[in-house]
Amino acid sequence: TGNTTLDPGFTNTASCVSRITFIDGDQGILRYRGYPIDDLAENSHFLEVCYLVIHGELPSSAELEEFEQRILAERKVHEDVKNLFSAFPRSTHPMAILSAGIMVLESYAQDTVAVRDEKQVEAATVRMLAQVPTLAAYIFRHVTGQEFIEPDLELGYVENFLRMCFGDSVEESQVKAMDTLFVLHAEHEQNCSTSTVRLVGSADTNLYASVAAGVNALWGPRHGGANQAVLEMLNAIKDSDNDTATFMEKVKKKEDGVKLMGFGHRVYKNYDPRATIVKKHTDEILASTDNELLDIAKGLEEVALNDDYFKSRKLYPNVDFYTGLIYEAFGFPMNYFTVLFALGRLPGWIAQWREMMTDPDNKIGRPRQVYIGETERKYQKQA
Ligand code: CMC
Repeated sequence: TGNTTLDPGFTNTASCVSRITFIDGDQGILRYRGYPIDDLAENSHFLEVCYLVIHGELPSSAELEEFEQRILAERKVHEDVKNLFSAFPRSTHPMAILSAGIMVLESYAQDTVAVRDEKQVEAATVRMLAQVPTLAAYIFRHVTGQEFIEPDLELGYVENFLRMCFGDSVEESQVKAMDTLFVLHAEHEQNCSTSTVRLVGSADTNLYASVAAGVNALWGPRHGGANQAVLEMLNAIKDSDNDTATFMEKVKKKEDGVKLMGFGHRVYKNYDPRATIVKKHTDEILASTDNELLDIAKGLEEVALNDDYFKSRKLYPNVDFYTGLIYEAFGFPMNYFTVLFALGRLPGWIAQWREMMTDPDNKIGRPRQVYIGETERKYQKQA
């Protein structure tokens, strides 16, 4: 129809220009603002990466200090936010509470919801980075049937979050590992959830509402929900007496749509560079334990990397393949894993929304379609 081009799933249509993230999917390269992901994972930390992703440059030590202090000071949420939880049975999926909870935060943040007021946008940025982890920790305590732990404003960002979940048992090495995982998830250009944040925001919708929409998009198992799906898959294989061969046959025959979860990517046609780093951490964190699920995961990976089905389709492990094993070792329930992905991705969603809002060429997102339905017909009352 006219000059409309059909591109289901946007496999080759760019929806925007962006200066934030560079990916070369064939070579397995990922850079935030020009910095390679392995460099940042090794040498930076999450709040510095948040600043970099959102503001475009690494902060000076004074700028970083100021940014961190503003975030750390805002971690308490209004007492009434906790009323949210009485509406959600403990069995509720944590991602449902997260998205609803962000909308509750929005209703207490009316001084920060203007979309083109630089000061308000910066205040909303700080508040979201500060308060979404607080909300997430309450969600963890709620779904696991435990009393809430209040934020400790003296503690660092990641340590405070983990202590709000697990109390005093949290170890320094866990804080470091979680911080690195957040860095790895911080931003990933126009994936499904980020595109959702941009599309919702393109209607001049505020940051909170746009990010809540992103959370819902992330939930799906083809996207961030894959980290939960991977652990479910590994457990199912374990329960079948480790019958990896039968499982792989099913995948290759596409029986009941069974997929090797944690494999494949729209952009990476090579090893996902994030997966390489996660795998290294998985080996370190689980080194002292005899972890049957890790053995199954490694077995699946080895079979897949040497199998024509996966080789010909260029299917490699993605970031979600090994993360769940680490989250499980921390003590998070499987259905909570995607919340951790969301906490990591917050700066990316915020940065993309802000980039769009300040782009003078920004237009409302409004894809076209190719109509294939009925031509005109006359209404007739049906018997
Ligand atoms: N297991 C088995 N076959 C697969 C898989 C898989 N995980 N992924 C893709 N394929 C096959 C697919 O069936 C298709 O085969 P054919 O050419 O015979 O039709 C071919 O590979 C190309 O796949 P596609 O579905 O056209 O690729 P896509 O770019 O549309 O989908 C994907 C990308 C990530 C949704 C898909 O690979 C998938 O569903 N993977 C499993 C879920 C997953 O791990 N998601 C996490 C993605 S990374 C981080 C994130 O976004 O959260």
